Amino acid sequence: APGAQRFIPPEADTLDELRAAAAGCRGCELYRDASQTVFGRGDESARVVFVGEQPGDMEDQKGLPFVGPAGRLLRKAVDDAGLDPGHIYLTNAVKHFRFELRGKRRIHQTPDRVHITACRPWLVAEFARLHPEIVVVLGATAAKALLGPTFRVTKQRGELLPWPASAQHPEDFQQVPVDSAGKRADTPPSRLLATIHPSAVLRADDQDKAYEGLVTDLTVAARALA
Ligand code: URA
Ligand code: SF4
Repeated sequence: APGAQRFIPPEADTLDELRAAAAGCRGCELYRDASQTVFGRGDESARVVFVGEQPGDMEDQKGLPFVGPAGRLLRKAVDDAGLDPGHIYLTNAVKHFRFELRGKRRIHQTPDRVHITACRPWLVAEFARLHPEIVVVLGATAAKALLGPTFRVTKQRGELLPWPASAQHPEDFQQVPVDSAGKRADTPPSRLLATIHPSAVLRADDQDKAYEGLVTDLTVAARALA
């Protein structure tokens, strides 16, 4: 069967072990043209976890999520919202860069449903090893992966949503209590907050207004954690 599931070692306890396994994933065709798998990174005990779309050109080259322009903007927005950019975990719905070659340029292509579905087991595996209080869903691709195809970011952005009531296949996401690693086993279920993707801010006609909207949404998360 296609998809990432068969590449996930059931005995992988840690995110490092998952990351190592994800390097060899061939769960969809995206591994062929991309340079490498870009797995999630950051503070594994973060109270806030961000889910983006897929690595961009720079992320594909460096092997790290959110190291390009969108990542820079996101970190600034996180900081401006009153969250600590040093204590977040960042990942993507799809872990290989999808692009189209135009001459020498690699032009970003939005992942299709087939890629989101194929890659979803990595996201599920990550969440089973994280204990976020809030999961920030950045843009439509992440929303599709976590909330299903009918969710509209534009309508429900900036609202704290219960987990897993509106999530697709919520049973996938039941969080495994981990205490061996010194993590709280009694963590309440995460809540979700959807907002626009930082790349959408960079593309907006009115960038200042779009940025302000992103910060306003993230402030809702910051207040909930205060
Ligand atoms: N955009 C994303 O969604 N993820 C990244 O890692 C970089 C840019
Ligand atoms: Fe595997 Fe996801 Fe990469 Fe597809 S995009 S090959 S499912 S890691």
